[in-house]
Amino acid sequence: MISVTGISKSFGDKKVLDDVSFTVNDGEIFGLLGPSGAGKTTLIRVLTGQLKFEEGAALINGKDVRKLAGTDKKQFGVMMDDFGLYERLTCYQNLCVFADIYGVGDREIRRVLQEVKLTDAEKKEVKKLSKGMKERLRLARALLSKPKVLFLDEPTSGLDPQTASEIHEIIKKRKDAGTIIFLTTHNMAEAEKLCDHLVLLNEGKIVERGEPKELCLRYDHQKRIELVTTDGECFSMGMNKEDADETSRQIAAYLKDGKLSTIHSKEPNLETVFMELTGRKLEV
Ligand SMILES: Nc1ncnc2c1ncn2[C@@H]1O[C@H](COP(=O)(O)OP(=O)(O)OP(=O)(O)O)[C@@H](O)[C@H]1O
Ligand SMILES: [Mg+2]
Repeated sequence: MISVTGISKSFGDKKVLDDVSFTVNDGEIFGLLGPSGAGKTTLIRVLTGQLKFEEGAALINGKDVRKLAGTDKKQFGVMMDDFGLYERLTCYQNLCVFADIYGVGDREIRRVLQEVKLTDAEKKEVKKLSKGMKERLRLARALLSKPKVLFLDEPTSGLDPQTASEIHEIIKKRKDAGTIIFLTTHNMAEAEKLCDHLVLLNEGKIVERGEPKELCLRYDHQKRIELVTTDGECFSMGMNKEDADETSRQIAAYLKDGKLSTIHSKEPNLETVFMELTGRKLEV
């Protein structure tokens, strides 16, 4: 279990985490959703003992993150962008370096290579890998220590949908095997699909929390419909009391001209929730 209480962190006089509190339960995928600069990476660095913080407390499986020993850190798998790979070493050799540090053997290296589907590329130098393959190797490296908690900083950022969904499958399997997954993302579709619980972070502050579906329903008071014309134009229109007359007038006009192609109700999503809370878009 991860328990965070009132954490604040500043760089100089800029507060980048402001009184952040939440709990992550065993066996769940917990998502930290927020736009660029919200403080997501900073929070992972705080929780993994890479950064000091001024106020509050964070416990992982009962251990204070300020007092983590080497053996405690071996229980975490961490995947971050700036954790480099050795470009001139092969996939296998890269994992060997870390296997030594974690005290695991050849069997575990081959197991994680298989898990991320890189067995066929194990003899390839990292510099010859595609972006998606490098990302999978970074994930393999995070999985190598058989972690109880996995921290993933934007694990699918910039990846094609196929590689992203392969990574989602690996994450889900690890969750099913009992690993706590803590991931950051600014991709709302990923957050909705993958996470059991979410925290929405904006400018260092938690603005909302909950299960993805329940969060969307909570903000489902702005009922809207989406309308597509025969020219392929797409409109979103309000269905609340105050918009209803105007919306029906426009639909009637399109119908009269034979210009209406499709019409359907628009489900609320995390983007609309975030927009309502902050006035900002999640993704740029
Ligand atoms: N080492 C540092 N020194 C000074 N400021 C920093 C440092 N690291 C991060 N910041 C600032 O802290 C804020 C939060 O940064 P952080 O990297 O945590 O955001 P993020 O949510 O991970 O964004 P992104 O989605 O772009 O990765 C930003 O304003 C950033 O400029
Ligand atoms: Mg970041």
